[in-house]
Amino acid sequence: MARGAATGSAADFLPDRLTLPALREAAAGCHGCRLWEVGTQTVFGEGVRTARAMFVGEQPGDQEDRAGRPFVGPAGRLFDEALEAAGIDRAAVYVTNAVKHFKWQARGKRRIHQKPNWTEMTACRPWLEAELAVVKPRVLVLLGATAAQSLLGRQFRVTQHRGELLESELAEAVTATVHPSSILRGEPEEREANFSAFVDDLRVVAGLL
Ligand code: URA
Ligand code: SF4
Repeated sequence: MARGAATGSAADFLPDRLTLPALREAAAGCHGCRLWEVGTQTVFGEGVRTARAMFVGEQPGDQEDRAGRPFVGPAGRLFDEALEAAGIDRAAVYVTNAVKHFKWQARGKRRIHQKPNWTEMTACRPWLEAELAVVKPRVLVLLGATAAQSLLGRQFRVTQHRGELLESELAEAVTATVHPSSILRGEPEEREANFSAFVDDLRVVAGLL
C-alpha cells in the first residue's frame, strides 16, 4: 500500500473469529486510517477476557507507543494510583483506547500528543466494538471526551455527566469520567481535588463490580 494510504475503517482488518489473541494479531496490521504510519505500532487493549470492567482511554501516548501497551506512561501511573485508591485491581480489569495508534507532532525532540479527529475515531471504532463483544464487561468506563464521544455520540459532554450511570446498550452499566491526563495537565493547586473527584467516580465503578 502507498505511504499513508488507508482503507477508511478497521473493519477491513477484523479476523473471522473474534478472540482477544486473534484481534490483537489482526490489529497489528491495521491500515484503517493514516495513523498506522504516524505511530510506531498498534497499541491494543490489555486485560483478561473475563474482566468485569473495561476502561477506555483516548489513544496511546509517547511511552505507550514505544512499549506497545496501554496506560504505562505518566497518565497510566496516575490511573493506577486512582484505581488502587478506589479499591479496583488493575489485573482484574481490561484497559484499552478509543484509537489504537499514537498521533503526534514533533516539537524539538519531543513528540507532542495530538487529539485524534472524528475520521480516525470512526475508523478505529471496530476494534473497540470487537473488544466489547469479546470481553462483555459488566461495567464500561469511558475516560474523557474522546472515548465517551466515540461510543456515545459527539454531543456527549463528560463535564455534565461524569460519574452518572448512563442509558446505553453497550454494557449493563456505563459511566464516563475525566481522562487521567486532564488531571496531570491541570493547575498544580487543583491536582489533589481533581484526583479525589476522579477516585470518587471510580468508587462508583467499584460498587458495581
Ligand atoms: N492516554 C490514553 O488515553 N491512553 C493511554 O494508553 C495513555 C495515555
Ligand atoms: Fe487502524 Fe486504529 Fe491504527 Fe487507524 S488508529 S490504523 S484504525 S488501529
